Amino acid sequence: MKPIGVFDSGVGGLTVVKELMRQVPNEDIIYFGDTARVPYGIKSKDTVIRFSIEDALFLLNQGVKLICVACNTVSSVALPVIKSHFKVPIVGVIVPGAKEAVYATRNKKVGVIGTRGTIRSRAYENEIRKLDPKVKVTALACPLFVPFVEEGYLKGKVVKEVASGYLAPLKKAGVDTLILGCTHYPLLKSVIKEVMGQHITLIDSAQQVAMEVKKILELEGMTSTKRRGKCKFYVSDNPEWFQGLARSFLGRHLDNVQRARNV
Ligand code: DGL
Repeated sequence: MKPIGVFDSGVGGLTVVKELMRQVPNEDIIYFGDTARVPYGIKSKDTVIRFSIEDALFLLNQGVKLICVACNTVSSVALPVIKSHFKVPIVGVIVPGAKEAVYATRNKKVGVIGTRGTIRSRAYENEIRKLDPKVKVTALACPLFVPFVEEGYLKGKVVKEVASGYLAPLKKAGVDTLILGCTHYPLLKSVIKEVMGQHITLIDSAQQVAMEVKKILELEGMTSTKRRGKCKFYVSDNPEWFQGLARSFLGRHLDNVQRARNV
């Protein structure tokens, strides 16, 4: 059976790999992180689309049967274009996250946090509106969260202060459900809960997209019959940097990270 492909702008997509390993442990996974060109969250739509097509092509050349777009920024701005280019099923994080948020909210007030690109695209808002027009969405960019996570600042005074500033409008809006619309944010769950209050329901897009992948594999009759899948990791630059961060995203050391030559 062919592997599943997963791509992200860099290391953050490992939160999705972690969930895939948990939910579809028998699948082989090929991961591509575009570490040479990260971050995508501050780039223009056209640039993100161009990079994403190249990322998807890299995976298709490795013979993947499905592509999971782990990056929220790519899923927000480039998914329809990528889908129109390729034949394999392509799964993004927006629809699964939006569905879960609409299902979870009790007061019909949902917050979304993400990169500037994701928030500017209004992708989550549009999807939520399609599902339930009565849900009120408050969406905010939290651009410092990505560098915090990559520098290992997952808790402490500075992170809490910045998070309090960013999240204040969401508290004011009274949201009871918050979509973590960026690969890196699941690592900040505890500080986000501290700021928002323990009652808040956090929607982890990594968990949701892994569930969706599982569903599609089953529906299309593409599930692997292996007992345990293997993962291969490719990056466009700096495998050492990727390896250094892998432990916090994936919870384990990675020794098989290769530099992709043709991206
Ligand atoms: N992977 C990106 C996302 O989920 C965050 C990092 C970046 O800006 O490239 O939006």
